[in-house]
Amino acid sequence: MADTSGSVPAIAGGVAALVAEAAARLDATGSGSPRLDAELLLGHVLGVDRIGVIAHPEAPVGAGARAQFAAEVARREAGEPVAYIRGFREFHGLAIATDPRALIPRPETELLVDAALAEVTARLAAPSRPAGAPAIRVADVGTGSGAIAIALLAALRARRMAEHVVVVAADVSADALQLARENAVGHGLADRLVFVEADLLPPVVDPRFAVVCANLPYVATAQLDGLARDLSFEPRTALDGGPDGLDLVRRLLDRLPDALTPDGVALLEIGADQGDAIVEAAAHQLPGWRCSVQADLAGLPRLARVGPRPGAAAGDRR
Ligand SMILES: C[S@@+](CC[C@H](N)C(=O)[O-])C[C@H]1O[C@@H](n2cnc3c(N)ncnc32)[C@H](O)[C@@H]1O
Repeated sequence: MADTSGSVPAIAGGVAALVAEAAARLDATGSGSPRLDAELLLGHVLGVDRIGVIAHPEAPVGAGARAQFAAEVARREAGEPVAYIRGFREFHGLAIATDPRALIPRPETELLVDAALAEVTARLAAPSRPAGAPAIRVADVGTGSGAIAIALLAALRARRMAEHVVVVAADVSADALQLARENAVGHGLADRLVFVEADLLPPVVDPRFAVVCANLPYVATAQLDGLARDLSFEPRTALDGGPDGLDLVRRLLDRLPDALTPDGVALLEIGADQGDAIVEAAAHQLPGWRCSVQADLAGLPRLARVGPRPGAAAGDRR
């Protein structure tokens, strides 16, 4: 008999059967990772991690959980990202809350967090840093969910260094900032963060930043419509980087002379095809400044380090 209740029919069976059927459905409806999606969603419904799902293929699943799983699989079939359905995404070892107010943090952005951590810890350990020096100031421009700022501070807290650092998390989106605040509170780091609604950075930066991190939108506008269906669920302001994808990055480069300390550096996530373009832009806009590009684990250009400016003394890290 046809289901006329409007609810999604439950999938039958125990764990392995549920995963197999859902994976087949998700494969047929365009997921690029159908089995992974099915395992993550079933784990979400059952309150276990993915390993718990894989380790117990014969476990029975109650009617309520099967109905909830069917509803979540239907959302995924419609293209909604797993991270929005589960409400969080693992990032740098943390569960970052995710919803349509902000971009879902991506694994490649962990490279930026690691680079920022290295910059900040080197400055804190520098022999030239006087005892009782003011907190090191870091900016996270385009903070979105707050993933970069929070992962950086959590890693510093694990090293008992967080109290020497303040992160200013800026975004043009009030909705994203609200999610970032919720994440900061959830991870017990709100006291180390200042949230600012701004176009890139506040008009005047004082005191300046030792490190500016930014994962700004860098997808070229013309490429946006051809991208994966899942991206249509994420805010366009988090993705659209203008005609060649670098509009916002170039505008941020213009802000660096006034925003960075004399030995300050900016760490900018870029697209895999933007390595040469960022080096050219930095040479043009910031003559004499250093600019290098680091590859991600896939060997693709991913992170530009811009600075220090000419004349900064080696080891003079504040
Ligand atoms: C690619 S998302 C990155 C989000 C987060 N930092 C991450 O790595 O997951 C880019 C973010 O930049 C923000 N953004 C876009 N234009 C901006 C601007 N002019 N000033 C500040 N933030 C901006 C978007 O709202 C979005 O949150």
